[in-house]
This record gives sequence, structure tokens and C-alpha cells, in this order.
Amino acid sequence: MKTGLDGKNVVVTGAGSGIGLATAKAFLAEGANVVGVDMNPGEIEPLTGSRLVFLKKDLTGARVGDEVLSAAVEAFGPPAVLVNCAGIAPVRESALDGADADWMHSIDVNFLSVVRMCRALIPAMVDAGGGSVVSVASDAARMPDPFFAEYNVTKASIVMFMKTLSIEFGPKNVRVNTVSPGPTRTPMWDRPGGFADSLAEQLGLSAEEAIRHFATTMRRLPLARLASVDEVAAVNVFLSSPLASFVTGAEYTVNGGSIPTV
Ligand SMILES: NC(=O)c1ccc[n+]([C@@H]2O[C@H](COP(=O)([O-])OP(=O)(O)OC[C@H]3O[C@@H](n4cnc5c(N)ncnc54)[C@H](O)[C@@H]3O)[C@@H](O)[C@H]2O)c1
Repeated sequence: MKTGLDGKNVVVTGAGSGIGLATAKAFLAEGANVVGVDMNPGEIEPLTGSRLVFLKKDLTGARVGDEVLSAAVEAFGPPAVLVNCAGIAPVRESALDGADADWMHSIDVNFLSVVRMCRALIPAMVDAGGGSVVSVASDAARMPDPFFAEYNVTKASIVMFMKTLSIEFGPKNVRVNTVSPGPTRTPMWDRPGGFADSLAEQLGLSAEEAIRHFATTMRRLPLARLASVDEVAAVNVFLSSPLASFVTGAEYTVNGGSIPTV
């Protein structure tokens, strides 16, 4: 079955690393033109070519949506697809530990960046006859974890914002969906001081043993492992494509079967 994304213009945020990088690569493999946005070039910059432009942007800038739209139009023409992957996951010892400035930053990066991108790109999609938006939230949107209060709340906000947009823009032929991954093996886990190191320290195990213990015992994931970035990217691409032409307002979980606690 073909995805129908050949020649489509796509914008992916957080494209420098992890799920965003894998999503950008998956769109390229489908023949799409991709503008990858990230504040860090990461691994995407070396891949740039005739169908991939890297745009170095911090998504906390108030005008960033308009700037990304202009650059995307200049590169390939109006975008038909937006995938919001950029995000951060600050860890606190208590849900009460985040100061106002911490909360404002998490809201800015994880949630307002999505609002900004949608505010700029959805009207352009409407003018062009339609499009698709996918935002990456998380299982954390429904699974409260005191170590990740800002993350949980900003991810829950994304789910509701996507559903809200889907109602307003469905009649204008713009589909809006959420992909909520469970734990996924990305630099968020593997970078020094990342989740793997924190778990290893907490459990007194090696990083690999700690990850296995997390998947099988702590989270009791039926598939008993973390997701790969490609497994999340595949769902991002599917929902963005005409194969999902009657899917909007949905939250697709890609979580190895974990059971939500709320
Ligand atoms: N890895 C997981 O276990 C997991 C699980 C569920 C959801 N997610 C979500 O998936 C998305 C991607 O996560 P990942 O694990 O690939 O992380 P990652 O850290 O590998 O990639 C995130 C990217 O976002 C970029 N970014 C962060 N702040 C930015 C800003 N202000 N402006 C521009 N770019 C910015 C980073 O530079 C980085 O390249 C995030 O939204 C994350 O919350 C990840």
C-alpha cells in the first residue's frame, strides 16, 4: 500500500534527534520534501539535500511559526503536513519542585511551540485546500508521575489542543491527530544524565539492566521492551498520509500495550 506522500511538503519539528529525526527520514523515504526544524542541528544537518532543508530555530520565539512557514514556502511551497516532535522532559524530585520559571519554560517548549506552529501553518493548509497535523504527546499525558509534573501537564494539553483543532478544522479538510508514544529508546534515554542513567542510579543496576527492569517490571509493558524511534515514526507518517484520510481528533498510542492509569 502506498502512503501517497510522494512530493508532499512536510515540516517536522525536533528533527535533529530521536523521534523527530526518524520521522524526517521516514518522510524522505516516502518521497516527501522535508523541512526539519530544531534548535540543535543534531544528526539532521549532514543529511540535507534536494528534498531536505534544515532550519535552525528555537521554537520558543514568539514569531517562530511565521518564520518556519516562510522558510518552508521558500524551500518547497506551502506545507501539507506538520509533525510536532520537539520536546523536553525535565525531571524533578517532587511535583511541587518546579518554580514558575521552570513551568513557564516547559509550557513554552512543549505546548506553546505546538500552538505557534499550528497558528502559522494551519491557515496556509486551509488556503492550499487541506493538510494534516500530528503532534507527539506521550503516555505521560494520561499517566501521572510525580517526577515529571511539567511534562505530564504539557503533554495532556497537547492532546486537548489537537482534539479542539480537529473539530474546528475538519470541515476545512485539515486533519489533526496526536501520537502518544510510551518509553522510546532515544537520546532522551541514552544521553549522559538521561532517563537510563537516572534509573540505573536509582536501581543500582547497569543502564541496560535498568531499562529492561523498567520495561518488564516497573511498567509491565506487554511487549516487554522500549519502542524504537522507527516504530513511532511509522505511525507519525501513517497518520500524516492519505491512508489515514478518515482519521482526525484521534490519539494513537504507540506504547507496547501499556495500560493508562487515568
Ligand atoms: N523518548 C521517549 O521515551 C518519549 C516518550 C514519549 C514521548 N516522547 C516525546 O517525543 C518527542 C521527541 O522526543 P525524543 O525522545 O526524540 O527526544 P530528543 O531529545 O532525542 O529530541 C528532541 C528534540 O527537540 C529539540 N528541541 C528541544 N527544545 C527545543 C526548542 N526550544 N526549539 C527547537 N527544538 C527543540 C531538541 O534539540 C531535540 O533535537 C518529544 O516531544 C518527547 O516528549 C518521547
